[in-house]
Amino acid sequence: MSLNIEPFERGFGAYVRGVDFSKPVSDALHDELIDAFGTHHILSFPDQHGLGTDEVVAASRVFGPEMEPHVFTQYHHPDEPLVMVLSNRLKGDKPAGLKDAGSFWHSDVAYKPEPAKATMLYALEVPDVGGDTLFCDLTAAYDDLSDTMKARLDGLKAWHFYAHQKRDLFETGQVQSPPECLHPVVRTNPISGRKAIYITPSYTVRIDGLPEDESDQLMQEIFEHCLQDKYRMDYHWHTGDVLVWDNAAVMHTATTKNLDPSKHRTLWRTIISGGPTF
Ligand code: SIN
Repeated sequence: MSLNIEPFERGFGAYVRGVDFSKPVSDALHDELIDAFGTHHILSFPDQHGLGTDEVVAASRVFGPEMEPHVFTQYHHPDEPLVMVLSNRLKGDKPAGLKDAGSFWHSDVAYKPEPAKATMLYALEVPDVGGDTLFCDLTAAYDDLSDTMKARLDGLKAWHFYAHQKRDLFETGQVQSPPECLHPVVRTNPISGRKAIYITPSYTVRIDGLPEDESDQLMQEIFEHCLQDKYRMDYHWHTGDVLVWDNAAVMHTATTKNLDPSKHRTLWRTIISGGPTF
């Protein structure tokens, strides 16, 4: 079966059919998938039912050989630390996974000097209503900036910090945030060569070298621009979906903070590491 790519209606992201992640991915298919990833930034592979952790790790490695376990070690899959369990179920009297991986706009692992290149989620059970993952196209948002704003952002860097977004895990000392790190405000995507905005409301603390009020004002202006409806897309999950996205091109937010607790949602999550930002 050959690869069938159907772009999402919102202008970024695409469904990919003709891939079976229960089998090894050939070199030719690998190249096609990287191409599609560079073009669409979010790929959805429906109907990948019954995958095990080894297969999800192998599918993740298609998009980059290096992977890393999440810093929240308590939610690692018991058989495979590279897989983190997201779930609102209980296992006995303990959470079966992390209930809310981040109901706030962010780009994964931007709080480390080498952020995540890509993130993969695999849906084991999902609610009929709610639990969507929302995405924002930071490449299109960059393209539409005025030339004056592009020139203003050119060469700027910003500080990122995990605990900038308040969370119980930090407040209770269960997890320590890595120290602040610096990234360019605009990144050139290593696959597509296109530029994208690389600051997010959750992890970006301030723009380096600017007075605090100027930095706050500039970030606010950029966030308001990015979060316009025209750059956004809501991904509604189906069981068996594998979804992978490019963290250098989009930001995302979970919506699980507001998920009805009677609706069960369990996904596996992997992080595909990236190199330093430029
Ligand atoms: C994430 O932020 O990585 C998880 C998104 C989700 O659970 O919808």
